[in-house]
Amino acid sequence: MTSIFCFSGSGHSLAIADYFSSMLSVPVNTICRDTIPHGDTAIVVFPVYCQNIPAPVKAFLKKLNAANIVLIASYGRISYGRVLFEAQKLVRGNVIAGVYVPTGHTFLQGNTDFDEAAFLPVFERIKAPRTVSIPKTPKSLYANIFPGWRSRASVKITKSSCVNCGICRECCPANDTTGCIRCLRCVSSCPHNALTFTVSPFLKKYLTTHYCDDLVLYL
Ligand SMILES: Cc1cc2nc3c(=O)[nH]c(=O)nc-3n(C[C@H](O)[C@H](O)[C@H](O)COP(=O)(O)O)c2cc1C
Repeated sequence: MTSIFCFSGSGHSLAIADYFSSMLSVPVNTICRDTIPHGDTAIVVFPVYCQNIPAPVKAFLKKLNAANIVLIASYGRISYGRVLFEAQKLVRGNVIAGVYVPTGHTFLQGNTDFDEAAFLPVFERIKAPRTVSIPKTPKSLYANIFPGWRSRASVKITKSSCVNCGICRECCPANDTTGCIRCLRCVSSCPHNALTFTVSPFLKKYLTTHYCDDLVLYL
């Protein structure tokens, strides 16, 4: 049985997971604090955060034990660091494919388009599994300078017509130790559009320069 697991703050990874879901006719399981992995083949889709694996995904990958694993990381055209190499070390099971997918950046609110055709070899690999080794790629030096601090200082979330429905709290993947990770899942999940965010002009300028556009497949 194939299972799809996804963590997505602003919808880019979810669009990819939904595509796999429609092609394979299996539902998407949202990764949250208590998600229990299941299935022989696991497809895990998540974003790159500060050239790292988001904390809730890291916790999930440590629990993952599947015969075959496909790892898909969406990234905002800055740098993906060595996220898939690190994810491969956390899981138990054979990693049979890894993909870095360039998408829009969470903080720029673009559309969630991606190149569907690029995934066709991944479906072939799922049908005929073979272990792959994902190499250790270099991290971008600039993207590595206090990235967490930069997003906390430059991205402000504001509340307007909040009715205290609590949905944002329920879907927040951060816990007391990590604090807000600026995934903006609260903003995208608010049914009343009560949350908005602003990005500092400096960060916006940095993010609109595309440093890396590569779709990378490890098969
Ligand atoms: C806190 C945070 C950190 C990010 N760090 C990076 C990064 O280091 N490199 C990059 O290319 N994109 C980065 N991004 C952009 C996301 O990886 C990209 O937009 C991704 O597709 C978001 O997926 P989602 O919509 O499923 O949450 C970051 C986004 C956020 C919110």
